[in-house]
Amino acid sequence: MKLLVTGGCGFIGSNFIRHLLAAHPDDSVVNLDKLTYAGNPANLADVAGDPRYRFVHGDICDASLVRDAAKDADAVINFAAESHVDRSLMEPDAFLKTDVFGVFTLLEAVRELKIPRLLHVSTDEVYGSVERGSSRESDPLRPSNPYSASKAGGDLLALAYWQTHRVPVVITRSSNNFGPYQYPEKMIPLFVTNALEDQPLPLYGDGKNVRDWLYVLDNCTAIDLVLRKGGDGEVYNVGGGHEVENVVLTRQILRLTGRPETLIRPVKDRPGHDRRYSLDSKKVQQLGWKPRHPFGAALEATVAWYRGHEAWWRPLKSGEFRAYYEKQYGRR
Ligand code: NAD
Ligand code: TYD
Repeated sequence: MKLLVTGGCGFIGSNFIRHLLAAHPDDSVVNLDKLTYAGNPANLADVAGDPRYRFVHGDICDASLVRDAAKDADAVINFAAESHVDRSLMEPDAFLKTDVFGVFTLLEAVRELKIPRLLHVSTDEVYGSVERGSSRESDPLRPSNPYSASKAGGDLLALAYWQTHRVPVVITRSSNNFGPYQYPEKMIPLFVTNALEDQPLPLYGDGKNVRDWLYVLDNCTAIDLVLRKGGDGEVYNVGGGHEVENVVLTRQILRLTGRPETLIRPVKDRPGHDRRYSLDSKKVQQLGWKPRHPFGAALEATVAWYRGHEAWWRPLKSGEFRAYYEKQYGRR
């Protein structure tokens, strides 16, 4: 297959491209990425020289560039997004542009070029907070922050293009991912790297919010399966099946990094902070997927990766990130 991957220099996209090139020797990838603060070519340094891989620098909102990059593609996989809830509270514009208008641009290109598949990568956050039970694909969307509202907008537009124009879209909605190459603004890499630096771990509110954690390589195999076997116009939830309160996970990170619990710093809660996410993933399991990495071992491997890749994350925690962090949590 010839694939156009968008947002491939970010966390999940870079793990996916590495997975794809290893698992499918006959596939090739064009990676279109704007290189925002979250896009890092270093995430794919090991495959940059592979003749099956080509990088194009650009924005998914640029219709002519997208058409150019997509011509000849058998499928488009969209990872490109503004992806951090806290940033969406401060600067929502880019979220609307990329997560809604960018999806529209991709849909139009896929429609015009008659590309047989557009896999749009989405999130469990579109369902909003789930106090009890687990979200199913048919549940209503009740997003509660500008990030999840923008993602819900992209999902609904994609499904509308299937209904009206039969554009062959398929959507995955995964739970919180963790693993190597995740930008250190998200909880797990932020807490691991802060602990390694003996810095406080800013825990929001009462620390009892629940997330369902999915190892990124398990998400990659789910996306790969849905790409090849998923039905047009369908949505597939991809949950890790490991729900845990933030405070419990924080203690686990401190144990793995050998740091004391006194590093936990309770801070003001995030406005509109969703209490719990939980996914019913039976539909993707029926396609033949299940997560292969037990949570404890995957978290340990992730901590070991950050320990061994200081040269990757240290530069990311200076400059733009430092200014963002200080605005968010105060001077450290
Ligand atoms: P990320 O923030 O690490 O990476 C996003 C990538 O998209 C970056 O490389 C960035 O440069 C690129 N990008 C941003 N705007 C662009 C634009 N306009 N044009 C082209 N490229 C652009 O994000 P991630 O964590 O890898 O998430 C990937 C996708 O998965 C997103 O759609 C996100 O909503 C979804 N998702 C993420 C998680 C998670 O836990 N990280 C969970 C569920 C779903
Ligand atoms: P995050 O990684 O931002 O993912 P999301 O908000 O998309 O689920 O946050 C995961 C959980 O950790 C969420 O409940 C918010 C919480 N959190 C903190 O307590 N402190 C932090 O500094 C961050 C970034 C998140």
